Amino acid sequence: MEQQAAKKRILSGIQPTGTFTLGNYIGAVRNWSRMQEEYECLYMVANLHALTVRQDPAALRRQTRESAALLLACGIDPAKSILFVQSQVPAHCELSWVLSCCTQFGELSRMTQFKDKSAKHPENVNAGLFTYPCLMAADILIYNADLVPVGADQNQHLELARNVAQRFNNNYSPTFTLPEGYNPKTGARVRSLQEPAKKMSKSDTNANAYILLTDDADTVLRKFKRAVTDSEGAVRAAEDKPGVTNLMGIYSALTGKGLDAIEAEFAGQGYGVFKEAVAGVVIDALRPIQAEYARVLADKEYLDRVLAEGAAAAGRIAGRTLAKVYRKVGMLQ
Ligand code: TRP
Repeated sequence: MEQQAAKKRILSGIQPTGTFTLGNYIGAVRNWSRMQEEYECLYMVANLHALTVRQDPAALRRQTRESAALLLACGIDPAKSILFVQSQVPAHCELSWVLSCCTQFGELSRMTQFKDKSAKHPENVNAGLFTYPCLMAADILIYNADLVPVGADQNQHLELARNVAQRFNNNYSPTFTLPEGYNPKTGARVRSLQEPAKKMSKSDTNANAYILLTDDADTVLRKFKRAVTDSEGAVRAAEDKPGVTNLMGIYSALTGKGLDAIEAEFAGQGYGVFKEAVAGVVIDALRPIQAEYARVLADKEYLDRVLAEGAAAAGRIAGRTLAKVYRKVGMLQ
């Protein structure tokens, strides 16, 4: 227990909007499972955040379980980490309200994700989309997380969480840990296979742009064969060769080989051979994940029990923070 208390705490979340991509795996989830040894980790399926976009209820329920099952399949171990579903810990929403009263309209208006999403979906600029960063701040601050692994697109939200935490601490008294971003050294940022200037995203309209963790071997091979490269024909990482560099990054992330070694390995060989090799290591990496995913999904009782235990454990920590906050702001106990 002594040792546990000394460990830094990590919290991260992922939205249950469909299966994760190879980019989510290499860039995030694989690291989450590695961090379990060194840190006290909480991992959350952010189903409340998903509501900012219109969802089909049955699909959302199914995808929430699928996301949790995939996290387990990717190595999140409920004996080491707390794995839970956001909506099953109601204190997040309660804290979110208090934090929203410590957040300025102007601050939220400056969030680039809000500006992008409201421009993209002018028919549904709902208040939740606007206050989304307050809920995310609550997710983080309610656990006094020290470190938050997030992608670059979430840095601004994390910065807001820090500012709100600091403001609350100044207005009342020291309450919240100021969270920091955590960018693991390993884990290349995986780009789209079709337009390598963009990051690999499951919301891409072109399914050839991404690899899903649930893609079968034939699909993976086909998508890599169609991946955009260039006309040089040399396996070499360079800024003006974003497609090939991206494939090398994927190969490197899954084999541990450096870019120079990969260049040497494929010297004098065409892109066809290289693409097949990349597909091969991806297929090998996905095989055990897919097997475990199928096993967990088939055992709904197990999955729901893990999530119930996770929610109870998270809820104990969250409840203590919320009680403290309510007392400080003047709510009746
Ligand atoms: N907003 C994050 C995303 O869309 C998901 C998320 C919700 C999250 N709450 C969080 C990430 C708390 C880190 C910490 O990717």
